Amino acid sequence: MDKPALLGGTPVRSRLLPYARQTIDSGDIAGVGEALASNLITQGPTLERFERALAARARVKHAVAFANGTAALHGACWAAGLGPGDRAITTPLTFAATANAVVYQGARPVFADIDAASLTLDPDAVKRAGRGRVRAVLPVDFAGLACDYDRLLPLAREKGWTVIADAAHSFGGTYGGRPVGALADMTTLSFHPAKLITTGEGGAVLTDRDDLAERLRTMRHHGIRCPDRARPWRYEIVELGHNYRLTDFQAALGLSQLDRLESFWQRRDRIAQRYRERLKGSPFVELPALPPDRRHGWHLFVVLLRLERLSVDRDTVLQALRAENIGATLHYPLVYRHPFYRERFEYGPGLCPVAEAAEKRLVTLPLFPTMSLDDQDDVLRALDKIFAHYAR
Ligand SMILES: Cc1ncc(COP(=O)(O)O)c(C=O)c1O
Repeated sequence: MDKPALLGGTPVRSRLLPYARQTIDSGDIAGVGEALASNLITQGPTLERFERALAARARVKHAVAFANGTAALHGACWAAGLGPGDRAITTPLTFAATANAVVYQGARPVFADIDAASLTLDPDAVKRAGRGRVRAVLPVDFAGLACDYDRLLPLAREKGWTVIADAAHSFGGTYGGRPVGALADMTTLSFHPAKLITTGEGGAVLTDRDDLAERLRTMRHHGIRCPDRARPWRYEIVELGHNYRLTDFQAALGLSQLDRLESFWQRRDRIAQRYRERLKGSPFVELPALPPDRRHGWHLFVVLLRLERLSVDRDTVLQALRAENIGATLHYPLVYRHPFYRERFEYGPGLCPVAEAAEKRLVTLPLFPTMSLDDQDDVLRALDKIFAHYAR
């Protein structure tokens, strides 16, 4: 076997294979062009069509589009009434935006540990974390796998918590046959280019509840309400809102992408299943659980290194993969270990031991719909090469 490129060998690929990439076709471009040529390029009819299509896809009553997934999370925390003195429970294994949205509202994020097999919130840990003035729980469908909602929802109901599911990774997935989006009080999505569908930047909140949808629309648009539709100039600011609107031409891209969500998913699933097939016997990696009652959304393909079989740590494996031009990466450095969280909330190491042990072993491998099977073979070859060299 060749020497790893990190040590001067020839890289498996000559050009970097990213971990994620958007899929844009001529239909997307035509849709955006048409929206740009119309009279209203923001707050127009295409946005409403996109919202209706999103709601229909998730089988919920309302979709409220936002400027990005972070704004959608902020909107959901606002609509849930989170405020100073409140607490909201979430996972440390997420992009910081999930917890930041709680902080924007002056509330305190409380981190509960994850389940070692699924890497999503452990309902028992959530129960233990539910002390003090908890008002909401924000489960995150990490990598694309829906959380254990059958256990989280009854717990939240019993305690009176609002459930805000962060489904940035799992839109298109299902849980017990129900689509992601229809499981929680509110479900937030992100349409960042790395995600399952894109609007460039964008996001949305899905909900069945009329009161929450109304609050989300108000929050997104400066806290404005129009008491008299016949006199729109007499608008009123009823609360402190934000400008978190999505433009119509972004919505046009979203509509066109949403039409292809299923075909994107088929392709992601094919690649992910092939990775699982090839890696399941590997002595060097462990695969996260794939419970049969869930359709994984496959935003990310993650593996857990078996560090006891390797002479190097996760960072060296990532560096070695990068040297082979494989854009492997880490999802995520744990939220409470970021300096801002350490300093503001005084969270120390040891808070969530299962997540801390998992984080040291996590590697995200490239996965996106236009990736070819040859690209995937490059990833597998690079792994073989690196594991062979660093096997203990
Ligand atoms: C789990 C999760 N939540 C929220 C976000 C924030 O989404 P956005 O980048 O659209 O603001 C992301 C994306 O980066 C994410 O991965």
